[in-house]
Amino acid sequence: MKRLIAEREKARLGGGEKRIEAQHKKGKFTARERVDMLLDEGSFEEYDMFVTHRTTDFGLDKEQYLSDGVITGHGTIDGRSVYIFSQDFTVLGGSLSETNALKICKVMDQAMKVGAPLIGINDSGGARIQEGVRSLSGYASIFQRNIMASGVIPQISAIFGPCAGGAVYSPALTDFVVMAEKTSYMFVTGPKVVKTVTGETITDEDLGGATVHSTKSGVTHFVGANETEGILLIKKLLSYLPQNNLEEPPLAVCSDPADRMDEKLNTIIPDKPSIPYDVKDIIHSIADNGEFLEVQRQYARNIVVGFVTFNGISTGIVANQPNFLAGCLDINASRKAARFVRFCDAFNIPIVTLVDVPGFLPGSAQEFEGIISNGAKLIFAYGEATVPKITIILRKAYGGAYIVMSSKQLRGDVNYAWPTAEIAVMGPIGAIEVLYNRDLKAIKNPEERAKFVSDNATEYREKFSNPYEAAKYGYIDDIIEPRNTRFRIIRALQTLSTKKDVNPPKKHSTLPL
Ligand code: HXC
Repeated sequence: MKRLIAEREKARLGGGEKRIEAQHKKGKFTARERVDMLLDEGSFEEYDMFVTHRTTDFGLDKEQYLSDGVITGHGTIDGRSVYIFSQDFTVLGGSLSETNALKICKVMDQAMKVGAPLIGINDSGGARIQEGVRSLSGYASIFQRNIMASGVIPQISAIFGPCAGGAVYSPALTDFVVMAEKTSYMFVTGPKVVKTVTGETITDEDLGGATVHSTKSGVTHFVGANETEGILLIKKLLSYLPQNNLEEPPLAVCSDPADRMDEKLNTIIPDKPSIPYDVKDIIHSIADNGEFLEVQRQYARNIVVGFVTFNGISTGIVANQPNFLAGCLDINASRKAARFVRFCDAFNIPIVTLVDVPGFLPGSAQEFEGIISNGAKLIFAYGEATVPKITIILRKAYGGAYIVMSSKQLRGDVNYAWPTAEIAVMGPIGAIEVLYNRDLKAIKNPEERAKFVSDNATEYREKFSNPYEAAKYGYIDDIIEPRNTRFRIIRALQTLSTKKDVNPPKKHSTLPL
């Protein structure tokens, strides 16, 4: 018994007091402190505390640490089971050894058997250099498990320190990446290698800090101002998710009346079609208690994705954002939304799509980078999804973008439009310029041309810049009063809760990655 207490005490010290102090000085918590912050008090069951590495080269036989640089086990968050691993930077820089990888794989395997989410906290100098290929194969074993677990259990990665080299690919294979400002960074090759190979001088932060990955690369989904905030984000995120792909998401307790109306919504769309507004005002208005957990908030801001509850029902929101790039669909927005839609579909989370989209972003830059195959990802994601899909067209739904955004023929279950909806192949001005190309060429006077366009645009608008034409053909199930949107969504979600839809049997699709 005495030995047990002493050994546990030793293990809890990781790489020793000095290194713990150094960790704190950097504004970072230790691996164990992070586990304690994340899990319900007293719920942590630790595995493999007494594991040590088996390497004798490079003097490592004299450097043994109990737990070998990673804390693993399971516990609960808000009473729900999760599995966890937390890399301990105080032990050989949290580097991944053969035994360290075996510990991680053990909890991954159990998480899969039990059907519980996996949370990985990364803070590591990468492959343990002294172990060479044994360490590399450890990474490969983790990657393989990440892949097998994808779409079966939710996988969340926190990056609370360095995550460099091939090590970045485990988080990248998981569903959500959370970073903390200033103390975490991720890159495939660090500043030193970059300098050697390309001559470029760049800092850790500028190459792979939280700001870069939340705004430019889109690698991270959430950023906390510090680790504490990052941990709170993980807890909040889990509250929307089921334990695994065979379960429904949890039903939240809801005190917000289902039939609560918001008169403000009846006038929220500006009179002029060119004037933007913030679609998040609509999301906050219709969601339970105005709460919205936005995913990738600073990336591809022309589309907004995230989680809300409607009368307690966990729901994914996808919304065009007229406030940014007029809500156009571009490559990044298409990829961002497609990934989100596929996540929701994998985990039985219904999707509500709010549409105000003038089309795909035109231009050679987008064409050269592949807007065709990237836009196709979003069509694919929506068309493949079998969860309940509710679409509300708020204003513009033009061309291909109308089709993409969960239209009826992509198996939209309930498709509503506000009276302000404009559903057409393209906007009025563009349409007139195509339809009356020959007449316009003949008019030389600019004022006369403008009058011609404006007169004919009026006819076009009367015909197409409203939802009635689409409703006439049943592509829109109903035109609804904006103020009543929350209630109509809730009723649709309740009705669709027993929805069954299947895709044909196949090994897997060949979606345009
Ligand atoms: C063994 C390592 C280590 C590693 C750090 N340490 N990285 N030990 N293998 N990969 C040890 C250090 O020797 C030191 O030991 C302690 O951890 C803390 O490291 P410091 O350098 O003092 O800390 P800091 O100044 O904060 O710098 C952190 C760091 C740096 C930026 C992560 O240590 C670093 O650059 N490490 C190497 C990173 C790297 O190139 N990794 C391989 C990437 S390739 P003491 O005893 O002094 O405390 C890769 C392939 C994966 O990972 C492939 C997967 C497919």
